[in-house]
Amino acid sequence: MAIDSEMLVNAARSVRTNAHARYSNYFVGAAILDDSGNIHVGCNVENSSFSETSCAEANAIGAMVSSGSDKIVAIAIVGGLGDKGANTMFENAGKIGTCTPCGGCRQRILEFADESTQIMLVDDEGEVQLFGIDDLLPLAFRVE
Ligand code: THU
Repeated sequence: MAIDSEMLVNAARSVRTNAHARYSNYFVGAAILDDSGNIHVGCNVENSSFSETSCAEANAIGAMVSSGSDKIVAIAIVGGLGDKGANTMFENAGKIGTCTPCGGCRQRILEFADESTQIMLVDDEGEVQLFGIDDLLPLAFRVE
C-alpha cells in the first residue's frame, strides 16, 4: 500500500494540538494508517491523577481497534513542549521535536505491527525518520 507520509505526519500534527497536556506541557499526536487505508488519530490525555494519563499512540490504537482494524501499516508520531508554560490546554502546542515512543507504547505498537510496519518520527527540521518495530523494541516480549 502506498504511504503518504506527509499526509500522515500532518494528521499527527493536527491532532497534537488537541492534546490535554496541562501537567507536563508536552503535546503528542499520533496518526495510524491501517491496512484498509483508513487513518486513526490520537493525542495524549493527561489527568490530575497522573498515572491515569493515556499516551497519544495508545489512543490512536484504541481508535483503530474500535473501528474494526488490527493492522498498523504506518504510524506517525510527533511531540514537543507547549509554548506557554504550565496551563496550556487550549493554547499553542508549540514546535515539534523528535518524540520517540515510550516503552509501553512500543509494546502497544508491536501488538498490531509486522516487519513492514513503518514508524515515522519527525526531527526538529521536520525530516521524517523511519523505523521498524524491531529497531525500537529489540527482543520484544511475545506470547508464542
Ligand atoms: N506521551 C505520549 O503521549 N506518548 C509517548 O510515547 C511518550 C509520552 C505523553 C504522556 C504525557 O502526557 C506526556 O507525553 C509527557 O510524558
